Amino acid sequence: MGVREILEKERLERADLITLLEAKDEEKKLLFEKATAVKLAEIGNKVHFRGLVEFSNICGKDCYYCGIRKSNKATHRYNVTDEQILDAARFAFENAYGSLVMQAGELESPAFTLRVENLLKEIKKLSKGKLGITLSLGEQSREVYERWFKAGAHRYLLRIETSNPALYQRYHPTDTLHDYARRLTCLKTLQRIGYQTGTGVMIGLPFQDTGDMADDLLFMKEFNIDMVGMGPYIEHKDTPLYAYRNQLLPIEERFDLALKMIATLRILMKDINIAAATALQAIDPLGREKSIKVGANIIMPNITPGKYRNDYALYENKPCVDEEPEECKNCLDVRIQLADGEIGYDEWGDSKHFHKRLAGE
Ligand code: 5AD
Ligand code: FES
Repeated sequence: MGVREILEKERLERADLITLLEAKDEEKKLLFEKATAVKLAEIGNKVHFRGLVEFSNICGKDCYYCGIRKSNKATHRYNVTDEQILDAARFAFENAYGSLVMQAGELESPAFTLRVENLLKEIKKLSKGKLGITLSLGEQSREVYERWFKAGAHRYLLRIETSNPALYQRYHPTDTLHDYARRLTCLKTLQRIGYQTGTGVMIGLPFQDTGDMADDLLFMKEFNIDMVGMGPYIEHKDTPLYAYRNQLLPIEERFDLALKMIATLRILMKDINIAAATALQAIDPLGREKSIKVGANIIMPNITPGKYRNDYALYENKPCVDEEPEECKNCLDVRIQLADGEIGYDEWGDSKHFHKRLAGE
């Protein structure tokens, strides 16, 4: 079956998804046009901001792809002070960003739990409850997730990285800290607690094919996920996976695949929030805007204090590391307009899917 016929189907099967992900030229254009139309019809052209604070790159994990993995001694480790985090939150609030994402390396400890809990309460206070808060702090116990939820976080992002357990094993050490089953349990726990739950994968990893990527999309659908952030895998020289760089697709093809993943997901899950991954912009200066045109509706401007940004290098060539938040904002304003979008200032921009899921629709 060709792309045109597939795009008219009510229900997409695995084989259909693979065809869409492999579409080229005219067929790829059809896919993108359909994704744009679905997005406009279902959620409109609004793009919502999530001010991203990468408050520490100290990480307890050792994932084989990630530049801030514990064993990478070449990384300069940092920890933004609470005061600076609150300043960043104030900036987001005063500039009508609507929401904030707090991201850091993965740590599990009573001190870390308490620190985040206090920060959440402070951010809620300084924004008079108005700033929405998303956490992206990895695997934690149910109790910790509950405490943070009560303290004011209402969305949580935990990328499954790949939905294929065998592949997951190849990208992570084999130990209890890097257990696929636990990651999955964490995602389920987040959903049960009542978080708007987000996940995501990397696209174009070594050993991964379009069948795996189709499975990733079906995983998101099956899981009834509310939000997705996914982007191209970008090799980092100080990581074990770098040894396989010769097996990777050329970077432009990984970029293209990431756009097709976003477009296909928009067609598969019409009302979820999809982020324009920053990794897209590391490859193409207009990468995030291109993803907005084909289905993404969330952008995460980096509001980490400038001097730390270079050190949160999960992958190479990370964009915007030299800009201060103020410059980034003006720049994004123009960029979103160029992508035919409109910024939803001062709004949470919740996932429509989440509210429908709660209402049992
Ligand atoms: N390339 C692209 N994305 C990466 N991440 C980590 N390392 C890389 C890389 N080399 C992503 C992971 C993680 C998120 C914070 O960043 O998906 O969940
Ligand atoms: Fe950050 Fe342009 S988007 S400087």
